[in-house]
Amino acid sequence: MAFLDKHKAIETHATLLMVLSLLVVTIGGIVEIAPLFYLQNTIEKVEGVRPYTPLELAGRDIYIREGCYNCHSQMIRPMRDEVERYGHYSLAAESMYDHPFQWGSKRTGPDLARVGGKYSDAWHVDHLMDPQAVVPESVMPKYSFLMDAEIDGKYIGDIMATHRLVGVPYSDEDMANAKADFAAQADPNADTTGIEARYGKVTVANFDGQPQLTEMDALVAYLQVLGTMVDFSTFIPDPKR
Ligand code: HEC
Repeated sequence: MAFLDKHKAIETHATLLMVLSLLVVTIGGIVEIAPLFYLQNTIEKVEGVRPYTPLELAGRDIYIREGCYNCHSQMIRPMRDEVERYGHYSLAAESMYDHPFQWGSKRTGPDLARVGGKYSDAWHVDHLMDPQAVVPESVMPKYSFLMDAEIDGKYIGDIMATHRLVGVPYSDEDMANAKADFAAQADPNADTTGIEARYGKVTVANFDGQPQLTEMDALVAYLQVLGTMVDFSTFIPDPKR
């Protein structure tokens, strides 16, 4: 057959074979990936998912700076063993305001996608100060220096502006109140009507138990919100959307 004869030319010509293989793989890749940018339901909107508050966002930066993602994933796969251990599988919408996402690829420690609310703030502080005091066989490093690292939200407006640049819908009002909200979330005596009007459900607490605001406050505020935004007692996945 004439067509199969031509195939011989391809099979005996390494460069041509490589170029044509690349072409086939490219077309296949585009067909799979391109629609994801146009389909409405690639990220379905899910009630409750909100941008991080200024303090949580600062905590997230500390999480990245300290390389917590090297040992912890934040992505619960839809498999029975994972769902039974960690809770409802992760939804795409739950990372929609994460830039970059923290799914991770290594689990030296457990997945943290739903660690929020699992322990008390004091537990987290004790554990981060000295993991082996809480879990003797732990290989997690100590992060006690976070207790001494005071922060004042000097740069939080810039960080939020950067996130806004890549699509996180922080409003002008959010930006104007960034520093005030930053401090208010760690102060149980603060007036929280503003931050709650802007962000909705927010945990306000003196996370590290010290009078001054530290990186420990920010990190624990971040850990405590992980996986808690969506109410899974009422969430119904809609396969039609
Ligand atoms: C060298 C690897 C390693 C690094 C780096 C690491 N961890 Fe861990 N982490 C572990 C291990 C192992 C455990 C399980 C034992 C334990 O609880 O200490 C754990 C447990 C945890 C837990 C408890 C999870 C649960 O569901 O019980 C939290 C929360 C946590 N880590 C947060 C962090 C944060 C935040 C950082 C970064 C500041 C961090 N870890 C860095 C290894 C690590």
